[in-house]
Amino acid sequence: MLDPLVYLNGEMTPLSEAKIPVLDRGFIFGDGVYEVIPMYARRLFRAKQHMARLFRSLNAVGIHNPHTEAEWMALIGKVASAHPADDQLIYMQVTRGVAKRAHAFPEGVAPTVFIMTNPFVPPAAELCENGIACATMEDKRWLRCDIKSISLLGNVLAAQYAVEHNAMETIQFRDGYLTEGSSSNVWVCKDGTLMAPPKDALILEGIRYGLIEELCETAGIPFQARRMTREEVLAADEVLISSAGRELLPVVRIDDRPIGNGKPGPVFHKLHAGYQEAKKA
Ligand code: PDD
Repeated sequence: MLDPLVYLNGEMTPLSEAKIPVLDRGFIFGDGVYEVIPMYARRLFRAKQHMARLFRSLNAVGIHNPHTEAEWMALIGKVASAHPADDQLIYMQVTRGVAKRAHAFPEGVAPTVFIMTNPFVPPAAELCENGIACATMEDKRWLRCDIKSISLLGNVLAAQYAVEHNAMETIQFRDGYLTEGSSSNVWVCKDGTLMAPPKDALILEGIRYGLIEELCETAGIPFQARRMTREEVLAADEVLISSAGRELLPVVRIDDRPIGNGKPGPVFHKLHAGYQEAKKA
């Protein structure tokens, strides 16, 4: 089996040999942030936006950013070029570093930097043709979901809920209003207008959020950011999810109720075509 080279604190090592001390605050407290960047045909997709979000996340939790953007790009380039796949999903993580266990920030500790990559496998064509089923649950996460934190227990529980309910994703609601999926943003289409929850602290602003706004503009699809109730979501003509790994997928069932006519709709098809074009640009 392929044992790809990863970057860990200044060294390139085979993944199977990369080790961190157990006192790493990422392990002890989930004290860190991460990014997931797609690479198509050996070109990073929306790297600037992903890097800007990484910098925002680091800043939001007060972890020192150990590299300039150019240095980050060089490190990602090293990991990506060591891998044989032309399409990859690059994962990068920064934790607050290794220190004696005490909750508040340690002093004089260097952050832990880790970058790995995997082949990017696009969602099966069958999922785009027939759509996916989603479950729903109350959003029980913290109130800073805008930070791409590695503390993902709420998201992990939501993802497992989907698995246990024969669904591909769990759509979360907070106090009756749509937030997002366990690891995706959620889009709702009604009467030709595409809508998504506002970019606030209750959701992670996906890098695809901005992309889909741009695709709407190009395709002449009106877009509105607003709060939506569970009833509105269930009564939608179309529902979509987006993320780096799943790109854009149509949701045709939620909690065993069909969405629209139970098939992927015209807005999905238009945006999906736009997405595939954007990958080649
Ligand atoms: N997750 N919301 C959450 C909670 C997410 O975890 C993700 C992505 C998104 C979509 O963001 P983007 O369009 O930038 O991928 C929204 C990544 C892929 C992950 O955790 O693996």
